[in-house]
Amino acid sequence: MHIFFDFCAVMHPKIIVTIDGLSSCGKSTLARQLAKKLGYLYIDSGAMYRAITLYFLRNNVNYENVKEVKEALKNIHISFDVNPHHLHSEIYLNGENVEYIIRDIVVAEKVSEVAAIGEVRTFAVAAQKKMGENKGIVMDGRDIGTTVFPKAEVKIYMIADEAVRVERRFAEMYEKNPNITIDEVKANIARRDYIDSNREISPLRKADDAIVLDNTRLTQKEQLEFALNLVKKQMQPA
Ligand code: DC
Repeated sequence: MHIFFDFCAVMHPKIIVTIDGLSSCGKSTLARQLAKKLGYLYIDSGAMYRAITLYFLRNNVNYENVKEVKEALKNIHISFDVNPHHLHSEIYLNGENVEYIIRDIVVAEKVSEVAAIGEVRTFAVAAQKKMGENKGIVMDGRDIGTTVFPKAEVKIYMIADEAVRVERRFAEMYEKNPNITIDEVKANIARRDYIDSNREISPLRKADDAIVLDNTRLTQKEQLEFALNLVKKQMQPA
């Protein structure tokens, strides 16, 4: 079965897979594993908004001022490169690897506000569309199936219980910062979810043709199987 599927994936024209959902649903874990299995590129679109936020914070950009935002964006170049040690793609801001620093709570506190700015979204969405020009990509985020790739062949909308999401994010952040509390993480997630779902431009919502994946009680292996089945169905001749 798997050999047949691997064969199909190699032979089939490349497709686009989008994975959207609230914070800490496990989107990036699934997207990365799926991309690896398919031999596709994995792009973490949230990392792009985080890198832009990092630039704004470091350079004291007043992001309430449109002119300042426009000027700052001219100086931002974002790219992804595969780390040869673990073969994960990592994000670079103007040539600097910022994969780890953008996960800091200081960036997390501001990123939803920055991601709600029209000019920032236009900038990021244009770059994301370009990355998908040749297909063969798995991209996760909030508006990937609705705005960035509305014609994607496979769209997944991930959900998970809030308590599970908070626990997962806490475990991830505690590793880097043992001073962080579960209440801080919970408040940050709630605030970001609210802003991401209620902003004017491209708020988080399920695309009409997206398939819901609730991974509250699924193992990583089970959720990968679920996603691979969707891709397989898409690739099988009608
Ligand atoms: O997935 P993440 O937590 O790393 O995303 C960081 C922030 O960026 C999140 O608060 C929402 C925003 N985001 C967005 O608005 N659109 C995307 N496609 C991806 C992320």
